Amino acid sequence: MMHKTRNKTSIQNLRFTSPSTPKPLVIVTPVEESQIQATVYCAKQHGLQIRVRSGGHDFEGLSYVSEVPFVILDLLNLRSISVDSENKTAWVQTGATIGELYYRIAQKSKTLGFPAGICPSVGVGGHFSGGGYGPLLRKYGFAADNIVDALIMDDSGNIRDRTSMGEDLFWAIRGSGGTSFGIVLAWKVKLVNVPPSVTVFTVYRTLEQNATKLVHQWQFVAHKFPDELFIEIAIMANSSANGNRTIRASFNCLFLGGSDELVELMHEKFPELGVTKQDCTEMSWIESVLYFAAYAGFPNGPLDVLLNRTYTGIIYFKAKSDYVQKPISVTGLEGIWKRIYEEDPLSAQIILIPYGGKMDRISEKAIPFPHRAGNLYKIVYIAGWLEGGTAASERHINWIRRFYSYMAPYVSKSPRAAYVNYRDLDIGVNHQGNTSYAQASIWGVKYFKGNFKRLAQVKSKVDPSNFFRNEQSIPPFTS
Ligand code: FDA
Repeated sequence: MMHKTRNKTSIQNLRFTSPSTPKPLVIVTPVEESQIQATVYCAKQHGLQIRVRSGGHDFEGLSYVSEVPFVILDLLNLRSISVDSENKTAWVQTGATIGELYYRIAQKSKTLGFPAGICPSVGVGGHFSGGGYGPLLRKYGFAADNIVDALIMDDSGNIRDRTSMGEDLFWAIRGSGGTSFGIVLAWKVKLVNVPPSVTVFTVYRTLEQNATKLVHQWQFVAHKFPDELFIEIAIMANSSANGNRTIRASFNCLFLGGSDELVELMHEKFPELGVTKQDCTEMSWIESVLYFAAYAGFPNGPLDVLLNRTYTGIIYFKAKSDYVQKPISVTGLEGIWKRIYEEDPLSAQIILIPYGGKMDRISEKAIPFPHRAGNLYKIVYIAGWLEGGTAASERHINWIRRFYSYMAPYVSKSPRAAYVNYRDLDIGVNHQGNTSYAQASIWGVKYFKGNFKRLAQVKSKVDPSNFFRNEQSIPPFTS
């Protein structure tokens, strides 16, 4: 199936649209696999680097920016999806977005879904390569936990599936962050059961409405809720009813069940939040996908909004992530509010994503993504802004770096863990081709903990010349 290109650009962070951003020699948009083989062949012949782009959401622009001469291989025309509802699987080409995948699943079934991210324009190429989570993570884990086969092309143009690539490489491509092992052409995923009706709510609480106490309490309960219940918190500065600034916490919920049951559960497990039946809306799972997408800034429209490849809320941004293993004290939270007030209103946001459930039951070695049991929740910090120019960039980036330093005592240590899909070059970079395994371990163990060594060993076998690389790709292993 072939689709027309509808968007003008796949760049999803305005930070990489300035005239000084390095540009590719060419952007190749293949419509068949042989053109990818030709691109790999030519790039090798001419000593060019290849940057593979699926949805273009990489936080640091690694799918379309490089400091050395490079070509972009943009897969947006290779995005066919075939859903087999009987066997509960789907093959999806890596130019597709997660919104397209959700849409095609919903066309076939009202009781099948897939546990991937919230923003529909995110590409399955990068997203599944780095893990990929959304509101179903407590029930079904990450997208990468639900991949059952794949097609990957190596630097000689050979295409291999799970059987012919072998289990080591198949393990390595599910969560290591894209790029390092070749070009993934397609994934085969296992679809998951969802009830015909689910329930959502979003309730807002400001400091005047006890937000500090509620966020504090949430840390003790959210990871212990039944697997069917996911409540994340998005926190930003806001104006209170009397016009003074305040902090507003939005509690966003997806429950795989009905509203009566949800209200009962909330009374039992988290009565302090005061959720009532009026706060709850029942809908199909695919409508809940739209509901969460609208919260993330997508238009609240009919289902085909999910086919829109361009994120409508594109801004300049810098983000970072952390894992929390012990609840943060009230004083610690108050320090966070103070840092949020230091940034421009509406520029700073943090999101707390609850773990537990299925995440606790998957071994940290099952795939390269290792942050499982022992983590209460993940934090993503976002600084977003609308004005261009270096001065603005520096101001906002300095703010988020100061905030990140403040958080050190409250988050995971040795390593201070990070999520590879929230790519952050501040934690360390490879210097074009000459970074040793030991040097790369500085950032590698933050993303992958003990799995980093195995990733480097697989890299040594499948790409010893390090043809597929970027600032945070896996280097070959050296003892
Ligand atoms: P992109 O095309 O930029 O690729 C990312 C990386 O993977 C690059 O290094 C690229 O070269 C490589 N790559 C891409 N396709 C490849 C292929 N076929 N073979 C080999 N390598 C390939 N995450 C999450 O888990 N849950 C969420 O809800 C969200 N939400 C979200 C919203 C917004 C607005 C943004 C900007 C980002 C997110 N993310 C997220 C993070 C997202 O999962 C992460 O940025 C993904 O890597 C993006 O995948 P894309 O294919 O869109 O990016």
